[in-house]
Amino acid sequence: MSEPRILVLDEGTTSTRAMLYAPDGRRLGMAQAELAQHYPQPGWVEHDAAEIWEKSLACARDMVALAGGADHVAAIGITNQRETVVAWDRRTGEPLAPAIVWQDRRTADHCAALRQAGEEDAIQRRTGLVLDPYFSATKMRWLLDHAPAVAAAGDALAFGTVESWLVWKLTGGLHVSDASNASRTQLMALDGTEWDRGLCDLFGVPPRALPEICDNIGAFGETRAEWFGRPIAIRGLMGDQQAATIGQGCLTPGDAKATLGTGAFVLANMGSNVPVSRHRLLGTLLCRLPGETSYALEGSLFVAGSLIQWLRDELGLIATAEETEALARSMPDSGGVTMLPALAGLGAPHWRAEAKGMIHGLTLGTKRAHIVRAALESLSHQLHDLSGAFAADGVPWRVLRVDGGMSANDWIAQDLADILNLPVDRPADVETTAKGAAMLAAVGGGLFPSLREAASAMGAGTRRFAPALPGDRRAARLEGWRTLLAVSAFSPV
Ligand code: G3P
Repeated sequence: MSEPRILVLDEGTTSTRAMLYAPDGRRLGMAQAELAQHYPQPGWVEHDAAEIWEKSLACARDMVALAGGADHVAAIGITNQRETVVAWDRRTGEPLAPAIVWQDRRTADHCAALRQAGEEDAIQRRTGLVLDPYFSATKMRWLLDHAPAVAAAGDALAFGTVESWLVWKLTGGLHVSDASNASRTQLMALDGTEWDRGLCDLFGVPPRALPEICDNIGAFGETRAEWFGRPIAIRGLMGDQQAATIGQGCLTPGDAKATLGTGAFVLANMGSNVPVSRHRLLGTLLCRLPGETSYALEGSLFVAGSLIQWLRDELGLIATAEETEALARSMPDSGGVTMLPALAGLGAPHWRAEAKGMIHGLTLGTKRAHIVRAALESLSHQLHDLSGAFAADGVPWRVLRVDGGMSANDWIAQDLADILNLPVDRPADVETTAKGAAMLAAVGGGLFPSLREAASAMGAGTRRFAPALPGDRRAARLEGWRTLLAVSAFSPV
């Protein structure tokens, strides 16, 4: 084989992508396909699992062709939108219902009933996760109760998050999940290694429908020869936010990153300490390797890039996401407009599944650019709330490493530094989710002995944004945000 290539499938919320990497971390190519978003009712978000599979396969085939054929691909790494639930039939390998996406709020009542029954504290202690429709367990129960084909499937029912679905399809029937994705279902105890019987009973999910939980690096089977001409070994699996943490090289306890994708997710490495948040953050599994498990503290914001997409596709205020940078710069401020981007409820640290978005402070003088700027500013405001919760939990950010599509916007990176009053570092390659999956697969494929060595060989340089906003302007911005939260009745913790 000439220099080996690593193939990554990065299956996100709004698009699925395949990328090809060289062992020195260079991205040699990328194929991308948009995914249809289905909103059958307010608060519901669905995907077509067959579309996810077909488009992921097509993108992967493009990259295998770019590599010069499957012989040149040493290993595959898969990373994915987390929590989204796919139900399929083991006999046919076909989906039994639309996939319920992580943003979907339809199980808010189920969560409220469990809270009412006094279950929340015990669930959070056990899983690190608060009770919210975000996680997979109540979505699985909903499918069992409301999707006739799922209810009727009996022993043929297979549940999985998206990496599990893709591995099943790629290998022709291997039913596995990795520990980072499993930790987001609310069915695995954070310090456990298997599905937790008590949690499965509580949420009403039959363990026999669930995949086997595996480490993040390993031998996850080989792809069927028909997909790429010959089998390729799958060597790394990880949820996208954990993969971005690895891809950012946040390998030391205290290192923190924020990925600005469809949503925005901050993870701080906690080493081998099982995190316990007292300020409404999440404890989550970062990476499980043989004999070594690391954890992260997480703050999840449900809306980031999706807000920009909404401004573009639903309001028609912009033609492209890139335009937002020039629009934000065209105004000295947002003209008194503030925005609560609760288009899919509010995530950490508020956790208000029923919250709705709000644009506040409109006048006849309000311009399109003010609204766009207020939308961008809302990201910094939310991250500021998260930084307070992390600090209160004893994990203050010293530097925040940003990545993801939105972080390419210099105005946003600078605004984050200004409002957080912290240095913000951005890698030359902002696709760190895929980079992290490439590192896992490179280690799994024997190209590097450890993630640390993969990170130092495959990492890229960074650009630093230093805080520069005068203190009084920063205070005024934060005051405007607090007023908006008070007006909307969703006060900070
Ligand atoms: O937890 C949801 C997260 O994994 C979604 O990631 O990249 O689609 O914003 P993304």
